[in-house]
Amino acid sequence: MLDHPVIMNVMQQGDALTLLRLLPEAYASLAFFDPQHRAVLDKLKFGNESARQKGRAGLPAMSDEYIDSVCLEIARVLKPGGYLMRWIDTFCLCEGHHLRTPRQHIKPVDLIAWDSLHPGMGKRSRRRGDYLLVLQKPPIKAGATWRDHGIPSRWAEKVDRSIHPHIKPIGLIARLIGATTQPGDIIIDPAAGSFNVMNAAHQLGRNFIGCDLKFGGDRNTAIGAMAAPFEEKPVGSFSAKER
Ligand SMILES: C[S@@+](CC[C@H](N)C(=O)[O-])C[C@H]1O[C@@H](n2cnc3c(N)ncnc32)[C@H](O)[C@@H]1O
Repeated sequence: MLDHPVIMNVMQQGDALTLLRLLPEAYASLAFFDPQHRAVLDKLKFGNESARQKGRAGLPAMSDEYIDSVCLEIARVLKPGGYLMRWIDTFCLCEGHHLRTPRQHIKPVDLIAWDSLHPGMGKRSRRRGDYLLVLQKPPIKAGATWRDHGIPSRWAEKVDRSIHPHIKPIGLIARLIGATTQPGDIIIDPAAGSFNVMNAAHQLGRNFIGCDLKFGGDRNTAIGAMAAPFEEKPVGSFSAKER
């Protein structure tokens, strides 16, 4: 059993970077990261933000430096050959934000375009979904690390934005978990929003560690959320089978 206060398989409220820094090196098999930033709304300045977009703007936002630090921490926490599934919008992809993370730590190896089937905004084309950048921690190997070769690089799936304004498609998330991990493996999502990565992980018998600064029921003082008593289940004491 590890002697740190991170808990597994629950919705924790807390800070992404603090959580990641508590985790040991080469510990998790897979990570998802969906950063919260205002870059698109700030740059596009549509001026006619809907109530839902204003709701998005009300979420805590991350600076570029913070996002880069999270990516580096994820690279540290991943096992060699493990994947980071990073959600990225058109603006950040065109600006190459992911290139700020040195390739020797984690390298882009694939890109999946998610079609939400729900037209959004855009000064030229209208946004309909986001991109999922697949990054791998060296050694870069496909055959030994990716089992499902039926996942298309264009993925259409509707989502229910009433659950979370930025919710991502759980069907795609589940396929990616199935392709790259085994039952009992640890999957992390340090800015989990709706915690749909946790739900998909649990459906497939995987373990989950993650948090969100605003969402999540179990407040964990160790990762920077408001103080509240909680029943601590240290990492290693809770297996997927026990749920
Ligand atoms: C884009 S959303 C994630 C949505 C999620 N992928 C889903 O499918 O539901 C980003 C989330 O990051 C959270 N957040 C912002 N700053 C954070 C921080 N410092 N630590 C943890 N979470 C943070 C926001 O509250 C928001 O829920």
